[in-house]
Amino acid sequence: MINMIRAFIFDLDGVLTDTAEYHYRGWKRLADGEGLSFSRADNEHLRGISRRESLMLILKDRVYPEEKIQEMMERKNSYYLEFIKEISPRDLLPGAKELLEEIRAAGLKNALGSASRNASEVLDRLGIRSLFDAISDGYSVERQKPAPDLFLHAARQLGLPPAECVVVEDAAAGVEAAKAGGFRSIGLGPPKRVGDAEAVFPGLSGVRLADLLKALDATQFAR
Ligand code: G6P
Ligand code: MG
Repeated sequence: MINMIRAFIFDLDGVLTDTAEYHYRGWKRLADGEGLSFSRADNEHLRGISRRESLMLILKDRVYPEEKIQEMMERKNSYYLEFIKEISPRDLLPGAKELLEEIRAAGLKNALGSASRNASEVLDRLGIRSLFDAISDGYSVERQKPAPDLFLHAARQLGLPPAECVVVEDAAAGVEAAKAGGFRSIGLGPPKRVGDAEAVFPGLSGVRLADLLKALDATQFAR
């Protein structure tokens, strides 16, 4: 049936928790150490982008040997791991857990679609793993966002067609990936960043399932 929603695929960093800030701080510390210029505005283009692609964007047209590239990626990740050590359920963004629970209670499914190789650890620290029916992360596919592969991987795990799944994203690359895969899309954040999504909300605070379905002009799958 047309316009029936059966599942939501959530990005992690910047959607369910504010680890986007920790990714930024990790890259900033690396860039400062290497004498490379890197601002918060530059970081907006890194949202949702894989570790390697992020580094490439920071390095711009500078050429480094592969060994040095690997070392820099590891260094950034060690800074990031340091930051996320303290993450606890208190670090869930407002409204996130309530929405995940409401979706489940309504008989719909939740999946995670995060390019991060640290997604699993962050989910555990946040204490929300049990709210997901499928988890697709930085280990699941080769081609990361803006390619649709990660979300397609999640939809396959759920056994659902993309058109029945809503991707919830804070990154332009994530919205692009959703659209490329034929998914429904909700953007979180400034329209300048996620305005290509079908509907945009500032964040999940106070956002209920009915609000999302209404914004998409969709109905949930009734069992
Ligand atoms: C997510 C974040 C990006 C991060 C990427 C890889 O997509 O939004 O900022 O670069 O994951 O994360 P990782 O933890 O594997 O370095
Ligand atoms: Mg994100």
